[in-house]
Amino acid sequence: MLAAFLFAANLSAVAQPFLTADMKNIVILISGRGSNMQAIVDAQIAGARIAAVIANRPDAAGLAWAAERGIATVGLDHKQFASREAFDERLASEIDAFSPDLVVLAGFMRILTPAFTARYEGRMLNIHPSLLPSFPGLHTHQRAIDMGCKVAGCTVHFVTAELDHGPIVAQGVVPVLDDDTEAALANRVLALEHQLYPQAVRQFVAGELQVNGSRVSGVAASQASASLMVPAPR
Ligand code: GRF
Repeated sequence: MLAAFLFAANLSAVAQPFLTADMKNIVILISGRGSNMQAIVDAQIAGARIAAVIANRPDAAGLAWAAERGIATVGLDHKQFASREAFDERLASEIDAFSPDLVVLAGFMRILTPAFTARYEGRMLNIHPSLLPSFPGLHTHQRAIDMGCKVAGCTVHFVTAELDHGPIVAQGVVPVLDDDTEAALANRVLALEHQLYPQAVRQFVAGELQVNGSRVSGVAASQASASLMVPAPR
């Protein structure tokens, strides 16, 4: 028996911007606590409506958080499916029921099939806790520490078939401290993720992102003097 749990949507309870017909529908995919999802919801992005939050683990904590705010939630247990393809097909049909303009992966811990990534090409974003193209995959913070990196960070990118690749939309940088632990660095990066991701989603919704091959425009010459030097200048 397929485990799909659809919680009632009560949009009247949602603290979202005034809903109009030309709002962009956003569907957010999570696997766990969903703190990036929360940051995006809390940002109340003008012109955007959080249509649904979907998790591949029905007990994902972020689902309850979203449901409490009247957002439609779906728990779709990937373990109930015979293959990755079967899960992705069902996931796509759940997503498409909300007519998404944008799909946001926020800590969604699944490798996606090429058919799935192709379906949402140009309208699916992910956040990864490293400065891509360095450290795709898992354990990014420990790997950055082990390699002696002086800076670490996070990357928002369009999703393509290749894991943790795809045109880069935005990056945030933090220092790596001498006595950093994996957890300490992860917390520092996560705080930045919560600023970076809503901003990137806002740019998408406003139609500000133009993709040219592997490059996404969005950084103006006025930012040319912005810099981070680690250790700081003395
Ligand atoms: C974040 O660090 C994100 O970059 C990574 O997984 C983590 C998810 O955290 N992909 P949360 O569920 O958003 O709190």
